Amino acid sequence: MSDLTFSQLVQSKPVRLEKSGKSICVARIGEEVFAIDDTCTHGQASLSDGDVTGFRIECWLHGAEFDLRTGEVLSLPATEAVKAYKVSVIADSVTIEI
Ligand code: FES
Repeated sequence: MSDLTFSQLVQSKPVRLEKSGKSICVARIGEEVFAIDDTCTHGQASLSDGDVTGFRIECWLHGAEFDLRTGEVLSLPATEAVKAYKVSVIADSVTIEI
């Protein structure tokens, strides 16, 4: 069973998904979908409330940026990566592999 449908994801407008006790930030960039842990490693802010530019997502609270493809930190004040999850998109079905 899919977690989301591709057609419900809006370009560069991330959504928060609860799955297996985890909060996941899911973002569609072009025809691809990426998933990372939703909680910023700098604090308790939800990354899915942040702004997306290209493959970067910016935490709304203090401005740390993460790479949606890898979870890597791209700018301070966060110093630790968030976990990135594999996503499979088959037709309109989007599944996050936890
Ligand atoms: S909580 Fe995200 S940058 Fe501070």
